[in-house]
Amino acid sequence: MLQQLINHKTIRRYTDAPISEQTLNRILTAACRASNTGGMQTYSIVVTLDKEIKKQLAPAHFNQPMVTEAPAVITFCVDFNRFNHWCALRNAKPGYGNLLSLSSAIIDACLASQNLAVAAESEGLGICYLGTTTYNARSIIKTLKLPKYVVPITTITVGYPTAEEKEKQQEDRLPLDGICHHEIYEDYPDSEIERIYRYKENLPQNKQFVLENKKETLAQVFTDIRYTQQDAERISVELLDVFREQGFQI
Ligand SMILES: Cc1cc2nc3c(=O)[nH]c(=O)nc-3n(C[C@H](O)[C@H](O)[C@H](O)COP(=O)(O)O)c2cc1C
Repeated sequence: MLQQLINHKTIRRYTDAPISEQTLNRILTAACRASNTGGMQTYSIVVTLDKEIKKQLAPAHFNQPMVTEAPAVITFCVDFNRFNHWCALRNAKPGYGNLLSLSSAIIDACLASQNLAVAAESEGLGICYLGTTTYNARSIIKTLKLPKYVVPITTITVGYPTAEEKEKQQEDRLPLDGICHHEIYEDYPDSEIERIYRYKENLPQNKQFVLENKKETLAQVFTDIRYTQQDAERISVELLDVFREQGFQI
């Protein structure tokens, strides 16, 4: 298990091999065994195998090819619809339209998704997370017919990796001592930031990104091109609206 975690690579190209029902059930069972706030399991998992529904989902994911090419597209949602309904049938008054409940449910949905990712890899499958889920949540809500108090949080595409994908190199990570603090947080002097990011900055593909985009630094590729303030603020406003439309008073 440890070696499998350390060997993780996102897989974006899949063979045509379908995922058997037993395998799918095993990885979904593992997903639902994740720790969850108060034992409430305030999330739902929507498994999309149908080609037509995948096609409908694709534009929300900016037509990333994995959505139509992967045998399974799995959407993890916060879900207070089910829990509230149970409360209503049991003379209990739920009060979960708030930020705290929402953030707990988001954590739970993400823990379930990562359990599924690890379980899938242990079955020889490959996975890719799709951050586009929160970019275009409204469209996903419509396609998957999500009721009030249900909001998609993340999506994982799952399938058997092509031979080429299996062979590709792992993505870089910052050095462990750049991420982990011992006992208390130790803020970074400039020299440490220089050291921690040096490897990433010197990777040939990253140097190429800087050149191609006519930027001075790799950091500028992130701030000016990949993850701009403008996009983040526009999408934040929309995401907040979506949570409100779905019943959350935040
Ligand atoms: C929340 C989240 C959203 C992501 N969204 C996308 C995405 O929309 N498209 C994609 O190709 N990869 C996506 N990824 C995969 C990352 O690009 C990938 O994990 C990262 O580059 C590190 O590579 P690795 O997973 O192979 O180590 C996402 C990952 C996470 C955790």
